[in-house]
Amino acid sequence: MINIAIDGPSASGKSTIAKRLAKALNYTHIDTGAMYRAVALKCILEHVDLEDEAACLEVAQKSEISLKTDGSIFLDGDDVSRLIRSDEVSQGASKVSKFASIREILVGMQRKIASKKGFVLDGRDITSVVLPDAEVKIYQTADVGVRAQRRYEELLKAGHEVSFDSLYDELVERDYRDMNRESSPLIKVEDALEIDTTHLSIDEVVSLIMEYIESRNLND
Ligand code: DC
Repeated sequence: MINIAIDGPSASGKSTIAKRLAKALNYTHIDTGAMYRAVALKCILEHVDLEDEAACLEVAQKSEISLKTDGSIFLDGDDVSRLIRSDEVSQGASKVSKFASIREILVGMQRKIASKKGFVLDGRDITSVVLPDAEVKIYQTADVGVRAQRRYEELLKAGHEVSFDSLYDELVERDYRDMNRESSPLIKVEDALEIDTTHLSIDEVVSLIMEYIESRNLND
């Protein structure tokens, strides 16, 4: 078994693709963004200032985060899978994830999980920091307008009232923060396969990656 590492900007469809790949290969998907979201949610619930690293770190240290094989995420024993998807938590996660001390805790957890192999991890620093030795590395992108449109349709379908313009602006803001922070910014590593999904369907992206894995004779 191998590990597959997927990085890319917000709303580029990484988790959807990672989930599909994990299912096809009988692997386990680890959504690392959900872990940063869980820490942000707890900071928000405890009214901790999201710009205060020491206070956020204290929250992270006492948080019990667990990822279930069905994709749900538990925080201190409660299922927070839905709560972590709010706009407020998205912005909060982007803020707490810039703190090196918090990254250290979550990266340690992610490496420990992946050490058993047979995982598809998606995030921002998986190919560069968490698993630089992953057998397969993917950098998944899409045009920001297309990403905003996909997220807009997803939220509308889920019954949320959203404005396309504010979604677009928030994505631009998060991209900037994720790519320009000091600690583990989002980058494309040299040996990652870059896939621009702007004009591709989910099935097409999954097929591309499966073909890539097969072409490298890695999947035992
Ligand atoms: O993938 P996502 O949108 O659920 O991630 C939420 C935030 O967490 C995002 O702003 C970037 C950050 N993140 C990170 O810094 N490193 C990761 N491995 C995953 C997410």
